[in-house]
Amino acid sequence: MQISSAVALVTGANRGIGRSLVDRLLAGGVARIYAGARTRAGADSLNLLDPRVTGLVLDVTKDEQVRQAAAEATDVTLLINNAGVLDPGNFLDAERGQMERAFATNFYGSLAMSTAFARVIASNGGGTIVNLLTITALATMPSRSAYNASKAAAWSMTQSLRATLAGERIRVIGVFPGPVDTEMLAGVPIPKAPPADVAAAIVAGIATDAEDVYPDPAALGAYEQWKQDHKSIERQFASL
Ligand SMILES: NC(=O)c1ccc[n+]([C@@H]2O[C@H](COP(=O)([O-])OP(=O)(O)OC[C@H]3O[C@@H](n4cnc5c(N)ncnc54)[C@H](OP(=O)(O)O)[C@@H]3O)[C@@H](O)[C@H]2O)c1
Repeated sequence: MQISSAVALVTGANRGIGRSLVDRLLAGGVARIYAGARTRAGADSLNLLDPRVTGLVLDVTKDEQVRQAAAEATDVTLLINNAGVLDPGNFLDAERGQMERAFATNFYGSLAMSTAFARVIASNGGGTIVNLLTITALATMPSRSAYNASKAAAWSMTQSLRATLAGERIRVIGVFPGPVDTEMLAGVPIPKAPPADVAAAIVAGIATDAEDVYPDPAALGAYEQWKQDHKSIERQFASL
């Protein structure tokens, strides 16, 4: 899709990869961006970035706010489901509430946004939906059991929507990052990709109509190894 004619909506746009996506889309000449934040203050500060940015108060777990966003942002052609939460923990130690939080945002939130905006994008002649997944959707790390399960479910959802929405001229892209240097992994001492580089790779994937995007070297390396021998990646990630 051509970025300069796109009208984008990015969820979780106030920090991390979401904020870098807003910057990258603006630099790429995007026509307009609706930028979601959970608080009024967050949405107001996004409003100040550029005249093309409209800050939206949007918690993707709140059906009324999702409905309101779809009623307001009727010109959207590019939806980026970026909002996500990670509570570390193994399934054996996790409380049910932790799993429900992961699925509420990472799976049901992205699904609610996709459902609401598929109609909007179709009515604008087609476009693109992007789902931020993770490389650990391919093979899990048990230390983040609920998060990875919710992202694996979101990967399956991505494939279903891709097939279902193709007839509406809506492309559905899955993004599988490795570790990225944001608050989500603050304090985790491993090499991490800069969010600006990850955002650049995602926007390049949108512009070239990719189906799956591995936006950093660690993700690409793990994907190549997974293609050769998926059991070796399962064992490697299980030990981390
Ligand atoms: N960082 C990584 O290593 C990494 C790797 C693979 C995939 N990802 C994925 O990339 C996406 C962005 O991650 P990040 O690293 O930028 O995380 P981050 O720095 O923790 O930012 C998360 C963003 O999502 C928002 N958010 C959380 N729950 C929300 C909800 N219910 N409704 C709307 N917004 C919500 C947060 O808003 P508040 O400020 O209000 O909390 C924040 O803006 C996520 O889907 C994540 O799973 C990240």
